[in-house]
Amino acid sequence: MKVLVTEPIIDSELQRLDEQTQLTVGQRGEFNCEDALIEAASHYDALLTMLSNPVTRKVLRAGKNQLKIVANYAVGTNNIDLEAARDFAIPVSNTPEVLTESTAEIALSLILSVARKTTEAESRLRDGEFRGWEPTGFLGLELHGARLGIVGLGRIGQALAKRARACGMEILYHNRRRIEMETEKQLNAHYVENLDQLLPAVDVLSLHCPLTEKTHHLIDAERLKLLPDHALIINTSRGPVIDEKALVDALRQGSIGGAGLDVFENEPKVEPGLLETPNTVLLPHIGSATYKSRRAMGRLAVNAILSVQKNQTPGNLVT
Ligand code: DGY
Repeated sequence: MKVLVTEPIIDSELQRLDEQTQLTVGQRGEFNCEDALIEAASHYDALLTMLSNPVTRKVLRAGKNQLKIVANYAVGTNNIDLEAARDFAIPVSNTPEVLTESTAEIALSLILSVARKTTEAESRLRDGEFRGWEPTGFLGLELHGARLGIVGLGRIGQALAKRARACGMEILYHNRRRIEMETEKQLNAHYVENLDQLLPAVDVLSLHCPLTEKTHHLIDAERLKLLPDHALIINTSRGPVIDEKALVDALRQGSIGGAGLDVFENEPKVEPGLLETPNTVLLPHIGSATYKSRRAMGRLAVNAILSVQKNQTPGNLVT
């Protein structure tokens, strides 16, 4: 089986593929464009893709006679045209569950750093501006007793809810469908059916929904206006869920209190205004960046490819 891993992943998993398949590993960023993937799709039996690889209809059409699986090295599959994959009968797999805890950790760390202004405070200290304890310096939002609104109470949203409860936060959530009563009770989470009613009620809003046509710019200028002016917005899902330009305007005008972002609308580009706005913490999409998660993501993606090689049905299929 000819396998292309579009860029280097953790060594042990590459080794496993190397021992059992004819493996090619791309350079970092080499397959972040459609043309390179179109070329690859017609030559390889399996692609192990990154979330930055646009696996479009054209790519899948090019692979329709050759390609037996696209194993995405991510839980999100918004980089893949799933409808086209179905049309051309090309299975697509993802890597759920194994990055739930790591991503929830980054969401919590963004909440903590934006709420307590730790990044800003630390850089002031490093700049030599610590001149002794200040009675009114770096005043932030105390999480204990604050209200966290979670949009998308799936696996990662729930893992964040547990952590936030431990910090003494009250949990409100909005979801496509209300979750099971038992889970709701365990998390002590209150369901708010209408997103527009959730927004004015929160101190911190954290986004955990997948990117779809429906969630593109879910948080737009109008919805940003519904948040209280001290509210913090956290995004570890996908950048385009927020209208980034509207977010910059809201931050500039002070109509919200701050933002913690691990994902951006046009990654790896970052809206320049975000770099200048106060009380923003910006991370380079590191939600799942732990040895444990990345090893496990590799294991799931490689397993899916090896299953296809053995004519078995791969796990974690999304089409
Ligand atoms: C995913 O798997 O979708 C994450 O964004 C990668 O960290």
